[in-house]
Amino acid sequence: MRVSVAGTGYVGLVTAVTLAEKGHFVTCVDIDEEKIELMRRGICPIYEPGLEELMIRNKEKISYTTDYMAAYKRAEVIIVGVGTPEKKDGSANLKYIYEVARQIAHTVERDCLVVIKSTVPVGTNDKIAQMIKENIKNHVVVDVVSNPEFLSQGTAVKDTLYAKRIVIGVETERAGNVMREMYDRFDIPYVMTDRKSAEMIKYASNDFLALKISYINEIANLCEIVGADIEDVAKGMGMDPRIGDRFLNAGIGYGGSCFPKDTKALHWLASFNDYELKTIKAAIEVNENQKIKLVKKARKYFDHFNGLNVAVLGLTFKPETDDLRDAPSIENIPLLLDDGANVRVWDPAGMENFKKRLPSDIIYCESIEEAITNADVCFIFTEWSEIKKFDIHKYSELMKYPLVIDGRNCYELSSAKEAGIVYDSIGRKRVF
Ligand code: UDX
Repeated sequence: MRVSVAGTGYVGLVTAVTLAEKGHFVTCVDIDEEKIELMRRGICPIYEPGLEELMIRNKEKISYTTDYMAAYKRAEVIIVGVGTPEKKDGSANLKYIYEVARQIAHTVERDCLVVIKSTVPVGTNDKIAQMIKENIKNHVVVDVVSNPEFLSQGTAVKDTLYAKRIVIGVETERAGNVMREMYDRFDIPYVMTDRKSAEMIKYASNDFLALKISYINEIANLCEIVGADIEDVAKGMGMDPRIGDRFLNAGIGYGGSCFPKDTKALHWLASFNDYELKTIKAAIEVNENQKIKLVKKARKYFDHFNGLNVAVLGLTFKPETDDLRDAPSIENIPLLLDDGANVRVWDPAGMENFKKRLPSDIIYCESIEEAITNADVCFIFTEWSEIKKFDIHKYSELMKYPLVIDGRNCYELSSAKEAGIVYDSIGRKRVF
């Protein structure tokens, strides 16, 4: 099939590359000339394990262009994966998606499908269909399909090639048939429904996971108070298949490009329709508090951070990504700096982006050892495998005072005890 993909962010590029892997001919469209040039040279513009290899392996089947007219004109399917950033009021900003819809309407010269992959509020696909109908230049049939993605950063390629389900929201039989054909070689079960339900499946799924995280974080907070252990509690809960053992890791809250945005967007949509989504409101509030939990914990040990050497391990919102969107580090490091701390950070992928986001007096370190040497306290914000595998004895050897405040429960309490560090983690007893 001839497929064009608008937007080469995580969603667009991963979709494009995996479709090429399954034999389709794909044209990627983006307005960013520099990015397009980079991809033409076989370089992947985002940090995503396995993506560059697939780009290279399928280079005969993928082209990159800024010329949307050429890309859309004869495409059988146009996939839209442009961003829907959050507006100040929590609603999704749809200007990029509407812009693409107008371009498509002005350009297409054959019957085609416009497949919306971006996460959009319920009802947006209908609006896009209406907009295309009103602006269409040529006598062609354009069917709009909602086809949300469920990929996670860091495992995006695997999540797409071996997805648990494909959600397809259509209003015509023809659209359903073309979608079936496009995904035929993926061999993944699908849910075929109407457009609004497909849009809702995406939000309801993401928000459910966010809710699950906020729930386990609250239980972790309570475990700390009553002296229970969240790791055992989560394990015991997760063995019940009705609960499931995934997304039960207590920590310092969810970040990234989806959960914070999608919880606010669904809450906004409900309010807009005079309905209050109480559970999601609570999940958002719990998450906001959880994100600053480590600095709050540290106040038990110090009245202020003025003049203290603070090591920060992990900047990104989760491991295996260089993404800092809504990462706890973005909120916490300015608090530490404002309070006069000398901050030394280490992260295997996020430091370059952090420098752009937060230019200030931070020392960027090449290794964990360098970051913790002579530190009064060490915060762990992201559970990178390098941190988990790090020799825990080195904290007591290298730090001025071996206080490790861990937001991601990277170490066993018994190892911390044996290493002689003061270890304060999430939902577990403190080790002195
Ligand atoms: C998420 C969804 O998983 C994906 O289906 C959707 O399409 C986009 O949003 P992503 O944001 O890449 O993917 O990361 P994910 O692995 O889901 O983690 C999101 C956040 O939740 C991270 O900050 C992570 O640290 C946190 N998290 C996750 C927890 O705190 N505990 C958990 O048990 C799981």
